[in-house]
Order: sequence, then C-alpha cells, then structure tokens
Amino acid sequence: MDEMLTARDIRFAYEEGGRLAIDGLSVQVNKGEFLAVLGANGCGKSTLAKHFNAILLPTAGKVLVEGMDTADEDRLWDIRQKVGMVFQNPDNQIVATVVEEDVAFALENLGVEPGEMRRRVDEAMELAGVYKYREKAPHKLSGGQKQRVAIAGVIAMRPDCLVLDEATAMLDPIGREKVMRTVRSLNRDHGITVVAITHYMEEAAQADRVVVMSGGKVALEGTPKEVFSQVEAVRALHLDVPQSAELCHELTAAGCPMPPDLICVDECAAALYKLLTGKEAPAHG
Ligand SMILES: Nc1ncnc2c1ncn2[C@@H]1O[C@H](COP(=O)(O)OP(=O)(O)OP(=O)(O)O)[C@@H](O)[C@H]1O
Ligand SMILES: [Mg+2]
Repeated sequence: MDEMLTARDIRFAYEEGGRLAIDGLSVQVNKGEFLAVLGANGCGKSTLAKHFNAILLPTAGKVLVEGMDTADEDRLWDIRQKVGMVFQNPDNQIVATVVEEDVAFALENLGVEPGEMRRRVDEAMELAGVYKYREKAPHKLSGGQKQRVAIAGVIAMRPDCLVLDEATAMLDPIGREKVMRTVRSLNRDHGITVVAITHYMEEAAQADRVVVMSGGKVALEGTPKEVFSQVEAVRALHLDVPQSAELCHELTAAGCPMPPDLICVDECAAALYKLLTGKEAPAHG
C-alpha cells in the first residue's frame, strides 16, 4: 500500500539530553486513510503531529512524507505543501479581515497567479462549506465556522494530507460535527489522507484506524473496533471508550449476551433490540 507518512523508530527531546517527548515511535499512515491519534495529556501527540510537516525534526529515527525525508532541507518546501496542519485554536489561524482573503493568504505568499488563485480559493471555500461566508469578517463567525475557514486555507494549497491537532476541541457540538463532516468528506470524496488527533472517542470511532499513544510510544493500534473493545486496556491509558462500547462492556459484565465489538450507537441499538425482542431490528434509513 502507498505510504503517505512514515515515522520510523523516532525519538525527540525538546532540550538536548532532556526528557524524550517521543520515545521510540513507529507509525505508518497509508494514502487515503483516516487515522485517529488518541492519548492522555502530555503523551506526545502534538509533538508527533509537528514531525509530520517538518516543524520538528526527530533527534533519532526518520520521518518520511511520501518517501521524502523531513530532514532533507531541499524537500522542505514540497513537504510543507503535501501536509497541511490545522490546530486547536481557530483565532490563532486567522490572519485576514475577510474570509476569502484569509483563505487566499498562503497562496498569495506562494505567488500563485490571480486566475488560478481565484479558482483554488473558491474551490477550497466550497469544500470546507464556507463559501457563503466569503465576504464576512472571520471574527464574526462561530468557532466551527472559523475552523472551517482555517481548513479552507489549508485545502487551497492542495495538500495530500491533513493533520488536525485537536481541531474540534474548542468547538460546541454543532461546530464539531460540521468540522468533522467536512473533514470526512475531504477524506472520502477527495482522497485526502487525514490524521486527526482528538480527545473525542466518538470521532475516533469513525476513523479507519486508531493509534493510542502513551509516554511517547504507540501503546495500542488497530481498527476502532479492535482498540475500543479492549475497554480495560484503553482505561488503563487514562482514556474513555465510546459510550456504546462502555454500555456493551457493562452489560456483558452483568451477564447480558452483547456482541463484543460494538462501538457506535446504531449497532448498539440494534443489538439491544435483538436482545430484548428476540427479533432483528427493523432497518431504518
Ligand atoms: N515547547 C516545549 N518545550 C518543552 N517541552 C515541551 C514543549 N512542548 C511540549 N513539551 C513536553 O513534551 C511532552 C509531550 O507534549 P505534547 O504537547 O506533544 O503532548 P500532547 O499529547 O499533545 O498533550 P495534550 O493532550 O495536552 O495536547 C510533554 O511532557 C510536554 O510537557
Ligand atoms: Mg497536544
């Protein structure tokens, strides 16, 4: 399978000889994949994210972006273009006083010619669902809308990969859902590889694969079902599992025969229906 991002046994300390924030971590992200990264506070998630577009370079080991070594200065430009980053606080990512100017900002700095820039900015605003706000002042938008403006600014660069570092953490549930819907559509419909660092288990449950970090290493890795069915192991890493997984786990512990790997609400509801009525749940749609 084609690799988008590869970290090979990387180590990183913020101070020379200091504590390792990343301590022997290997991970691979395939092209087109949606990977969620989980882990308790301070386990190194943001440090890892910053390795994926060469904001940080590993002290030992290698990080490759589509085969390009992030330590290779000649490729820095290409690497930054391939991997777009979205951070937690939308206010820190807005630079202009009008939405469409904000989305165009990075392209302007690249010297993209005006016609091409117009096309890319419009397309990016459409994809991020902010086209209708294009003439508005960003500071008048909600947190979720601002975060989608930030995503549009990144998408306008036509990256192959988006790295989101808790991009929904400061949003209300509606803003969060809209941002996630945008990100999922960029992944599914436009083939953009996504690495989403999150504290929301329900977001991670929708990923193709989940990596759980602890102490600068990978502690658990697998599909959401594989990871979240290990309820005790996930809790030992100071994390929760999605509520559906928790409910199924409790019911099983109490002697109810629930299937072992239910992580989303619909599946859980269908299993409960079957348990209570003895019949298959009616399909709804
Ligand atoms: N700029 C910095 N200088 C020194 N140490 C840092 C710096 N940034 C992070 N650290 C330390 O590196 C370790 C990993 O931090 P990091 O921010 O990557 O964790 P995280 O998993 O993103 O945490 P959170 O969930 O709180 O965002 C922590 O011990 C943190 O204190
Ligand atoms: Mg962080």
